Amino acid sequence: MSVDHPPYSGLFLSFEGIDGSGKSTQARLLQDALADAGHDVILTREPGGSEGAEEIRALVLQGDPDRWSAETELLLFNAARRDHVERTILPALKNGKIVICDRFADSSRMYQGQRAGLRDKVDLLHREMIGMEPDMTLLIDMDPAAGLARAKGRAGVEERFEDFGVSLQEHMRDGFLDLAKEYPERITVVNGARSIDVVQAEILALVSTALLDKKHDG
Ligand code: ADP
Ligand code: TYD
Repeated sequence: MSVDHPPYSGLFLSFEGIDGSGKSTQARLLQDALADAGHDVILTREPGGSEGAEEIRALVLQGDPDRWSAETELLLFNAARRDHVERTILPALKNGKIVICDRFADSSRMYQGQRAGLRDKVDLLHREMIGMEPDMTLLIDMDPAAGLARAKGRAGVEERFEDFGVSLQEHMRDGFLDLAKEYPERITVVNGARSIDVVQAEILALVSTALLDKKHDG
């Protein structure tokens, strides 16, 4: 069954976008700004964010990109997400914290759903095993070639989708923009092709409004 959760007092924010769009940079800056303003905030990421989910992260992101079928990969991402929600996200939200998550279920909708044609299965598993969405999702949109150049600038062993090149990134960008139309209340598109500071200021303004709305809603 999906994770059982009564209304919580915290705020659940996610960042989405193609590789190299600036999610991690912006998530960190937002965490710092909110903490400086006196909020209780945690920054977490997917796949990962709990001990077990970090182990699954290594399984799914390292090694031969053809190691898993798309279906197996979907199950692994969902197993990681379930553990992350149970052990990290929901406890923090119940304690009134702001949770900033670098990627969440929209990434499965894109990389396993759109990319591998498994959207029905993504939705089914999400409904049955996860069953919650962020209060607000910041979709950082940018040109795929520029995003890929940024992402390639980082050294590391986690190459899962970056290796698939610009055409996959273009497909994912279009898919993310469609997703924003599918969930207009939740997903806000932010133009990531600007300087880090300008993007940061816009995101902080959006989140400040969401915090005020949450306060007024009770
Ligand atoms: P993501 O988490 O979306 O993959 P990162 O935040 O890791 O992206 O950013 C990828 C690279 O691009 C990093 O080296 C980061 O410093 C750089 N970067 C992020 N945002 C910007 C920006 N607005 N302008 C220029 N470079 C950026
Ligand atoms: P991440 O570390 O956020 O990569 P980046 O910083 O380059 O954006 O995510 C790792 C990869 O995992 C990324 O290529 C997208 C993929 N992914 C999925 O395919 N499905 C998922 O559900 C999630 C959360 C991530």
